[in-house]
Amino acid sequence: MSGLFITFEGGEGAGKTTVLQQVKEKFEQDGMQVIATREPGGSVIAEKVRDVILDPLHTEMDARTEALLYAAARRQHLVETVIPHVKKGGIVLCDRFVDSSLVYQGVARGIGIDEVLQLNLFATEGMMPDLTLYFDVKPEVGLARIAEHKGREFNRLDQESIAFHHKVRKAYLHLQEREPKRIHTIDASEQIGDVLTKSLQEIQAFMEKKTT
Ligand code: TYD
Repeated sequence: MSGLFITFEGGEGAGKTTVLQQVKEKFEQDGMQVIATREPGGSVIAEKVRDVILDPLHTEMDARTEALLYAAARRQHLVETVIPHVKKGGIVLCDRFVDSSLVYQGVARGIGIDEVLQLNLFATEGMMPDLTLYFDVKPEVGLARIAEHKGREFNRLDQESIAFHHKVRKAYLHLQEREPKRIHTIDASEQIGDVLTKSLQEIQAFMEKKTT
């Protein structure tokens, strides 16, 4: 595979989705073959699984059921969308991937990182992103941003308590320590323009290293 698989990770309201779209636009202007996609979703089947997972009415959903559904959506999205584009030599910018499951299901919901990792290795056959940008912001700041953007869909996970979001942040920081080569932290508390600039710098530095 000669393309590039880049994932964007972070807690609620970190701005990663906005930055991802702007990175895509910049790469398109530069004439690169780039697609933006998201998890859970990114293919017809995976979007249907997304609807089941994120339905606010599904309050009785078991944590392991949730982990399995995320992994199922991930598998389908990887096979149908990510791998074909990377094989063609393109760049895939993906909003969330395995790290989200390790953090949300593994740590925040308490299943355990290694158990969730095993499940995901089955789903992905070991494929991991070339580069992951983790958008770090305090939960209080992220949630305040969401409250400002009233138009955004309010999903089941947004209803979780602030303690849950602190766990999420701690877990991301832990993952970054475990895999410092792949996961690069971006300070997402800054203005969106600065966050975009830093993200582009990280990606360009990675690409340069890859070609040398
Ligand atoms: P979404 O509305 O896409 O949120 P965001 O804009 O924050 O990415 O909803 C995705 C939610 O799903 C988000 O709260 C995190 C959660 N999630 C998991 O719990 N596990 C996973 O593996 C993935 C991909 C997402």
